[in-house]
Parts: sequence; C-alpha cells; structure tokens
Amino acid sequence: MIQIGIIGSGGYVAGELIRCLVYHPNVQLNFLYSTSQAGRKVAEIHEDLFSADNLVFTAVINPNVDVVFLCLGHGNSSKFLVENSFSDKTVIIDMSNDFRLDKDANFQGKDFVYGLVELNQSKIKKAKYIANPGCFATAIQLGLLPLAKAGLLNDDIHVNAITGSTGAGQSLRATSHFTWRNNNVSIYKAFKHQHLNEIGESILSLQKEFKQDINFIPVRGDFTRGIFASMYTKSEMSEEELMDLYSNFYQNNKFTFISNKTINLKQVVHTNNCLIQVQKIENKVLITSVIDNLLKGAAGQAIQNMNLIFGLEENTGLNLKASYH
Ligand SMILES: NC(=O)c1ccc[n+]([C@@H]2O[C@H](COP(=O)([O-])OP(=O)(O)OC[C@H]3O[C@@H](n4cnc5c(N)ncnc54)[C@H](OP(=O)(O)O)[C@@H]3O)[C@@H](O)[C@H]2O)c1
Repeated sequence: MIQIGIIGSGGYVAGELIRCLVYHPNVQLNFLYSTSQAGRKVAEIHEDLFSADNLVFTAVINPNVDVVFLCLGHGNSSKFLVENSFSDKTVIIDMSNDFRLDKDANFQGKDFVYGLVELNQSKIKKAKYIANPGCFATAIQLGLLPLAKAGLLNDDIHVNAITGSTGAGQSLRATSHFTWRNNNVSIYKAFKHQHLNEIGESILSLQKEFKQDINFIPVRGDFTRGIFASMYTKSEMSEEELMDLYSNFYQNNKFTFISNKTINLKQVVHTNNCLIQVQKIENKVLITSVIDNLLKGAAGQAIQNMNLIFGLEENTGLNLKASYH
C-alpha cells in the first residue's frame, strides 16, 4: 500500500482528499497532520466521515511516507518545507501556488512539475514533486489548450469564471458569511487574479509567440462548489473544425470531455471531470468549461497525478458520481 501523509488536514481540500483516499484501493492514510485539530477525530471536523471512525488528526509527521500532500495556503507550503523534511523517496504534491511558476519550480533542489495532466502527462509520470494547478487555472487552461497547441490564439482572450464558496477555503470571512454570500454575486481581482500567471506560462509553452491579453473577470457565486468558466476570442475556424480540434486534443484523456450541446455545472460537480463546449458565433469561438473546484481543481487532480507517478490507472479512486438532482 502507498503510505500517505496529509498536511493541513483540517482544510477543505484536505477533507476532499481524505474522502477520496479512504476509498482508494492502493493507499493507506499514514498520518493526517493538523496544527489546529491534532488529537481530535477527523469526523469531528469533516463530519460526513463519521464511518471512518478510526481517523484521528495528529501533530506528528512521518518523514518516510511515500506521498505527502501539502494542503496549505499560499506561502505556507514553502515555509513548511523549510521547517520539515521528508525522505528522498517521498513524492510531494503541493496544492498552493508556491511552486507553480517557472521561477519558483526549483525549491531546495527539488524540481516541481506543473501538474496539469492534459499538458504535462509524460513529465508527471517521471516527477517526484508536483505543483498542482489552481482551480480557475485548470478550468480556463483546459478550455484554451487545444487552440494554443494549434497556434490559434491570435487575438485577445476574454474570460468570465464563476466559483463556489469552497474555492476560498474553510476560514470565515465577510464574503463567505452566509448572510452575504446567499442570493449574491460579485466580482473580485478583475484582470489581476494570480492564476493568470500560470495560465500564461502554459499557453506560452504551447504557442511560443503568444502575446495577447487574457482579460479575466473572476466572480463569486451563490453556490458551494464548482467553476463555470466561459471564454471567447476571435477565430476563423468553423464550428466543425473547432470540434475536431478539441476532440482530437482530448481523445486519449480520461477526465476531459467535449460536449456538442449546452453544458451546466451539475454535470461535473462531485466528479473529477472537466466538460467543455465549443461554439462558433459570428467571428468568435465561445468555449465553456466546467469543473468541480475541490476535485478536478484540487484533490482529484492531485490523486490523478499520484496515480500516474505510481504507474496506477489514472482514474483509480476517482470514478465518482455527480450529484445531479
Ligand atoms: N478550495 C479550493 O477549491 C482550492 C482549489 C485549488 C487549490 N486550492 C489551494 O489549496 C490550498 C488549501 O486550500 P483550502 O481551500 O483547503 O484552504 P483551507 O480550507 O483554508 O485549509 C488550509 C489549511 O491550512 C492550515 N493552515 C492555516 N493557516 C496556516 C498557517 N499559518 N500555517 C500552517 N498551516 C495553516 C489549516 O489546517 P490545519 O488547521 O489542519 O493545520 C487550514 O485548514 C490553498 O493553497 C488553496 O489555494 C484550493
């Protein structure tokens, strides 16, 4: 069994990892490290895990585990790795944006590979250190990669993406308070969201001459989970050509699918899938991409990466069912 350690186990992404990993046939949860919950039963915090009564948060790390998932906020992963070390064989999969950009990818002599499977599958299979992509970044990149690979992003790109409240983590703040969030919508970090950097690097890795603007308007939505991203740019291709381009790009992919009809968020929430619709309207291509932020946008994608590194079927432990109604 692959021995797993989780850091930041009291948080939302860690909770989702635990939920998936207790049913993964090839792993054992070795330790669940938590600064705030050590000594308590996991089910006291992640209350739906009441049947996994044996799981307890700990303040002790086992440095010899096979995989450690860092589920900490930005800046805290690098700090944690400075203060704690793991064996040379330990695979580290980090959820924060500490190691995602080229300039940050080498840390303490560890080379982090950007863990977007649809972009970097062969590198991921050989990697020991993974920088798991951001949730918005995942939905948006999966919508743009086929056009970038074909060198067809030749005009400014306009993106609007709406996220559920779990995207902001478990700590309470004004915009996650029920009274504010319920029946409400608002924009934040317009044109400046930090995920633009990783999106830009991935596009440039496929389309070297790309220099257009990506105008991204992130939106807080009145729901708990999922990301609904729509993006458009000018295109000279027909809808049929675009559909062929996208279908061919993702044909060998286990989790990214192309739809020829209107898509909606509930088709993917609670799954590791990404669903994409491509439409040609007048002189523009409109791409809609939906994911679950906690799964394909975080914990599910991290398990997908782990499966590839350990030579397991990519979808092991990730055959999840949407809760459609
Ligand atoms: N939420 C999403 O949809 C999503 C999607 C993609 C990526 N991510 C990224 O994944 C990471 C975790 O996100 P999350 O939503 O799970 O956040 P979260 O719910 O806020 O959990 C983060 C955990 O980090 C620990 N922590 C908090 N402050 C700390 C500090 N100063 N030093 C060390 N540990 C601290 C806490 O765990 P303990 O009390 O148990 O130690 C906390 O529960 C973030 O980097 C986030 O950007 C999140």
